[in-house]
Amino acid sequence: MLSSLFVERLKRSGIGLEVDRLDLAETPATPLDAMATAAMYLNEAERTPQMKTALAASDALVDRVLKADLLVFGIPMHNFGMPAVFKAFVDNIVRSGRTFDVGPSGVVGHLAGKRAVMLLATGGSYRPGGAFEGMDCLTPHLKAVFGFVGLADADVIHAQPLQFSGPEEKAAAIERARAETAALSDAWASDLAS
Ligand SMILES: Cc1cc2nc3c(=O)[nH]c(=O)nc-3n(C[C@H](O)[C@H](O)[C@H](O)COP(=O)(O)O)c2cc1C
Repeated sequence: MLSSLFVERLKRSGIGLEVDRLDLAETPATPLDAMATAAMYLNEAERTPQMKTALAASDALVDRVLKADLLVFGIPMHNFGMPAVFKAFVDNIVRSGRTFDVGPSGVVGHLAGKRAVMLLATGGSYRPGGAFEGMDCLTPHLKAVFGFVGLADADVIHAQPLQFSGPEEKAAAIERARAETAALSDAWASDLAS
């Protein structure tokens, strides 16, 4: 809901958006198998034809991500972290030589310069004093892994609590998250138009 709101609003702002939508619930990323992982440690020229085949889906996902100027992620929390299918997506796109390199001066993330937002949905409240304070492993994980590939400045909106609370708290959380999402979308539109 939040990612649709964000993108539809950005589209309506008239900045001329072309949307490449990937719904991992409909088209799940494949978890890396032994062949794909082995292939990742080798240069393109060293890979066997089977290794290239094993990496084809990952290469295609990396191409899609690299082609995008803006990245909008909608991510629910599953068991205090990211859903397995989103982790599989991350494993497919965090690729040495493609989305990051490690050089003499450290890690260089190739997604730097892109703009990104993470729209998070959690059943519980992770705010100070909330029932699940200190148990949010999703936000730090996303910050670490996307920071690693160059998206350290990604915006984050966290809708909470959406499930483990009363109907009033849920309604208020949705309203708050929708307002924050609309405001952020408008801020992006205004930056991108200038
Ligand atoms: C398998 C599963 C595990 C979940 N684990 C957690 C959790 O650890 N913490 C939490 O706050 N919410 C958890 N939830 C609740 C979801 O994060 C919450 O309902 C969220 O709104 C789902 O987003 P969606 O409505 O976009 O699917 C879980 C939901 C599912 C289906």
